[in-house]
Amino acid sequence: MDVIDIIIAKRESRELTDRQIDWLIPAYTAGTVADEQMSALAMAILLNGMSRREVSRWTEAMIRTGIRMELPGLGRPTTDKHSTGGVGDKITLPLAPLVASCGAAVPQLSGRGLGHTGGTLDKFESIPGWRAQLSEAEMLSVLRETGAVVCAAGDGLAPADKKLYALRDVTGTVESIPLIASSIMSKKIAEGTGALVLDVKVGSGAFMKDLDRARELAETMVSLGTDHDVKTVALLTDMSTPLGLTAGNALEVRESVEVLAGGGPADVVELTLALAREMLANAGIDGVDPAENLRNGKAMDVWRRMVRAQGGDPDAELPVAREQHVLTAQSSGTLVSLDALQVGVAAWRLGAGRARKEDPVQAGAGVVMHAKPGDEVSAGQPLLTLNTDTPERFDAALAALEGAWRIERAGSGRAREAEAIRSRPLILDRIA
Ligand code: URA
Repeated sequence: MDVIDIIIAKRESRELTDRQIDWLIPAYTAGTVADEQMSALAMAILLNGMSRREVSRWTEAMIRTGIRMELPGLGRPTTDKHSTGGVGDKITLPLAPLVASCGAAVPQLSGRGLGHTGGTLDKFESIPGWRAQLSEAEMLSVLRETGAVVCAAGDGLAPADKKLYALRDVTGTVESIPLIASSIMSKKIAEGTGALVLDVKVGSGAFMKDLDRARELAETMVSLGTDHDVKTVALLTDMSTPLGLTAGNALEVRESVEVLAGGGPADVVELTLALAREMLANAGIDGVDPAENLRNGKAMDVWRRMVRAQGGDPDAELPVAREQHVLTAQSSGTLVSLDALQVGVAAWRLGAGRARKEDPVQAGAGVVMHAKPGDEVSAGQPLLTLNTDTPERFDAALAALEGAWRIERAGSGRAREAEAIRSRPLILDRIA
């Protein structure tokens, strides 16, 4: 087998054979195929795509480079959720305990944030004492004891992806639909869940900026799940503006606890419930209303058990950033837009995210929003509060927020326009 033939085949838009893929992926993982050869191939794939058969085989080969976990003896069906990443996307925090409180087991192997999108583990780690790193035995024990576990994926799951993702990150080849789909699905299939709900984000704060590409990614991932006996459904959801009213680790934990206490912002509650209903349906659980479990405290009970089982103190004070800077509305009227990407970049620059994998994050850093698109605002009222421990970061965050929102002045059609903005759907499509 010659890697140069494989690169040339894809460069000329030919399909790779099963034998070529089965040889290439373990050879790359073992270091026989060099990074520069794999990066040439990744670029050819980005430009020329892959057939459904190729993506399926590629995913299978990535799974086979590591372990495929089994989740025995749980006595309940397993179901998981994966989001392609967005700004203020804290949904896993209320969702995992909620779905567990309804009778499913939720094994969530999560990642850390890179760039402007936050990572679930970084959010949980702002809870004093909470540990992301669990052995496989500990993970199973937390899952058995509480019904849900959120922890770091071990090195044994799809190691080919770890290597390839790091390479794509530095070679301009992240945005390839077959490479994103196989990367996400190899890890999710290897994790051993029986069912999976994908939250594919669309808009400025997401990987996929337009609906057609998001739909193509969702369809590719749903078919990969189905090919591997994981019941998979995808929701396409709006990420043109941040989810909820916070972006930043401890800030988002606080907002998630509000949702678990029966309150919280309407969009976070709506998406949490929509994903919970999909996960329960996929797991074959009916007759339980997740909204009721937010009201009656059952989801909160699971949250508290989950946090404690991983060394965290659910009653501890969450970290608060040392410095704040408030941005106010420059005029009165309707807030018609607040850009997700710009808020995400600002939160990142304030210290909530990292530029390199090894960078630390600030638990208290981030952005609190005091209004959402569709709200009426008055000149001088606070719109955003920026939080950081290191005030020298304010200038870079303020630069990121240049032109991030638009306020339209009072006019004849204003009330109707504000209502139209408020009623814009959060869930744009469903792919099954
Ligand atoms: N998340 C992943 O795990 N892989 C990708 O390729 C993109 C997002």
